[in-house]
Amino acid sequence: LRVAILLSGGGSNMVKLVESMTGDHPARPVLVMSNDPAAGGLDRARALGVPVAAVDHKPFRGDRPAFEEALNGPLAEAAPDIVCLAGFMRVLTAGFVSRWQGRMLNIHPSLLPKYRGLHTHARAIEAGETEAGCTVHEVTPELDEGPILGQARVPVLAGDTPDVLAARVLAREHELYPAVLERFARGNRAPLHLP
Ligand code: GRF
Repeated sequence: LRVAILLSGGGSNMVKLVESMTGDHPARPVLVMSNDPAAGGLDRARALGVPVAAVDHKPFRGDRPAFEEALNGPLAEAAPDIVCLAGFMRVLTAGFVSRWQGRMLNIHPSLLPKYRGLHTHARAIEAGETEAGCTVHEVTPELDEGPILGQARVPVLAGDTPDVLAARVLAREHELYPAVLERFARGNRAPLHLP
């Protein structure tokens, strides 16, 4: 199976996903694409030998469908079976999502359905949560809403700052996303709860 990964930043999740697709894993990475031509993840993808593309969203200011039409160019060429959003920070329209529904995954740094949207770690700390974590879900038109495919939990410790908690969660994202992708690629959509 062919996997495309979309990112906006450093791409640490992309690196773990790409590194996991070896041996008898049924999927291989065919494209890493970013909405930011300067995204560090693009260089990391090049270093890993994965084809890359960049579609700067800024010239499309406000015209989301036009931006997404530009994304569809490299995507159509790569012809992925699965699209993984990994630190991709642009909201996708229902039209775009519906074209990939059932084949698009996202990782979100909270235990959905709690803390959809941004600043999840600060909000969890502010709310006095004793645990936090990350979720891989199928992407549907509603933001951070689709069927949950996997979750991993971490404790929230006294004195945690958002950055400290974010780093603890990110380490679990790096375990969870590859595990969920492999199961998904093998047709297993049962939710995975990492110990
Ligand atoms: C991180 O905040 C992570 O929690 C979320 O996207 C951001 C960047 O991740 N999934 P990455 O290092 O670019 O994969």
